[in-house]
Amino acid sequence: MASSDPTVAAVFDAVAATAPEIRAALPGRRVESGMENASGESVLAGDLYADELLGDAFTAIDGVGSFVSEEREEAVDAGGPVGGGPDDAYAVAIDPLDGSSNLRSNNAMGTVVGVYDAPLPARGRDLVAAGYVLYGPITTMVVADEAGVREEVVERAPDGDGVERSVVEGDLTLPATPTVYGFGGRVPDWPADFRAYARAVEDDLKLRYGGAMVGDVNQVLTYGGVFAYPALRSAPEGKLRLQFEANPIAYVIERAGGASSDGTGSILDVEPEAVHQRTPLYVGNEALIDRLEAAVGD
Ligand code: AHG
Ligand code: MN
Ligand code: MN
Repeated sequence: MASSDPTVAAVFDAVAATAPEIRAALPGRRVESGMENASGESVLAGDLYADELLGDAFTAIDGVGSFVSEEREEAVDAGGPVGGGPDDAYAVAIDPLDGSSNLRSNNAMGTVVGVYDAPLPARGRDLVAAGYVLYGPITTMVVADEAGVREEVVERAPDGDGVERSVVEGDLTLPATPTVYGFGGRVPDWPADFRAYARAVEDDLKLRYGGAMVGDVNQVLTYGGVFAYPALRSAPEGKLRLQFEANPIAYVIERAGGASSDGTGSILDVEPEAVHQRTPLYVGNEALIDRLEAAVGD
């Protein structure tokens, strides 16, 4: 099942086509590249490989006019113009390898993709589709668009030519009864109001935290619950980046019937100022996000 918008379909065709290649390239790319990215984080060889493969694939798509990545300082012109006009192209923002510090410890990782109908940096409300690949024991791709949220299993075709995709869930929604929570950062670095919220959530839900947003969010999507990378005392804007982490994940969770917040309102309403800007991110079942906003909101 593909998205009805041809550019969105082409973007996720490209994501699915590269997923087995990215996965296959990881064993030899667990080492540091010696570089730092725009967020000041050290870049692994796997981050660069995924970035190049996806960058080449997206810039070759006619309807993609610009492209930005965690691993690139600035947006790449892919033949623009980007905007809301009928002939205007979309802008694509990606986290090529999310949770890449898990490469060394061999834990889950992902790729995050947002497709915007506006020049970058853009608001989450300008997303026309978003999704992610989860490199877990199985490679899955979750895509949210105007039709809803679906999960596909992506495998290399048995003859080695291209990929096989099968939809395992055509209309994903968060379970009504939440089960799991996962919060990033160190407890002493959490503001007192978030610490109190976390303490209350602990009584009701089970901890599931793996250190890759995509893996942790996929647990919330599957079992219901709440994921947060909160505002920290040492970093009031948190850790995650708005354009290629928070907005796409918030779009997926909201399309699946959940809610997102930066602490005061939906992530999708956060005003974008820069391509690499950070934001606190809270996503999950609506009741848990309402409680969060009551606890930490101004
Ligand atoms: P990335 O590997 O793309 O830089 O993202 C890592 C992010 C995210 O995946 C995760 O939620 C968070 O960092 C984990 O941070 P901690 O190690 O501080 O828990
Ligand atoms: Mn990331
Ligand atoms: Mn990354």
